[in-house]
Amino acid sequence: MEKGVVLKKGLFVTVEGGEGAGKSTCLDYVKQLLEQKGINAVFTREPGGTEIGEDVRSILLNKKYLGMSADTELLLMFAARAEHIDKKILPNLSDGKWVISDRFTDATYAYQGAGREIGPERVALIEDWVQGELRPDMTLLLDLPVEVGMERATKRGELDRFEVEQMSFFERVAAIYRQRAQAEPQRFRVVDASKVITEVHEQIKSIFEAKFSELGI
Ligand SMILES: Nc1ncnc2c1ncn2[C@@H]1O[C@H](COP(=O)(O)OP(=O)(O)OP(=O)(O)O)[C@@H](O)[C@H]1O
Ligand SMILES: [Mg+2]
Repeated sequence: MEKGVVLKKGLFVTVEGGEGAGKSTCLDYVKQLLEQKGINAVFTREPGGTEIGEDVRSILLNKKYLGMSADTELLLMFAARAEHIDKKILPNLSDGKWVISDRFTDATYAYQGAGREIGPERVALIEDWVQGELRPDMTLLLDLPVEVGMERATKRGELDRFEVEQMSFFERVAAIYRQRAQAEPQRFRVVDASKVITEVHEQIKSIFEAKFSELGI
């Protein structure tokens, strides 16, 4: 698919947030909301979402590669993303389907840009190169204190290559997510993910109801 020419008919929605913020839990609920509304949607994730992307994901999360250079990490993220955009995101959007992705480029600004301290400028350069003009239409940020997220993630099972990082790494990640949400209020919807699941669902429901009414559906 040609870059820069984005024939989008569906809506591109991304869900962001730190470890254990509740992204997967939230996406199960979004699936129900869209089904009830009769919206044809494809659910996917990053890094991953394609056969090559999932293989790249396994390299990225593997603790065998704890010493991976920050640039390698950044480029692998975007290599997986290039495949994802080409093979899944754009074809489905131009088919009129909604594409809902568990993480996208905001995560790269947060984890590689801030966490790994590469800085936003270099992320932005590759973002433009890989994505052309493709950006999410709406991004849900599941915001919660870093310790709470880590506690949830730890309870769930073995930690991956990112989850074993220091608290300061996750604080930088959380700060950039919040900063990006503030800078682009028209795209971001911030969800207070520290609430109990039923209350998180209520917040998500009103975000989607507002979006449906904005779109006249
Ligand atoms: N609002 C909530 N309150 C309490 N526990 C929650 C809440 N939301 C999710 N959880 C629990 O926290 C854990 C992490 O949730 P989930 O897997 O949805 O997070 P995630 O953001 O997808 O994590 P990851 O970044 O690792 O993919 C799960 O055990 C889930 O049941
Ligand atoms: Mg998850």
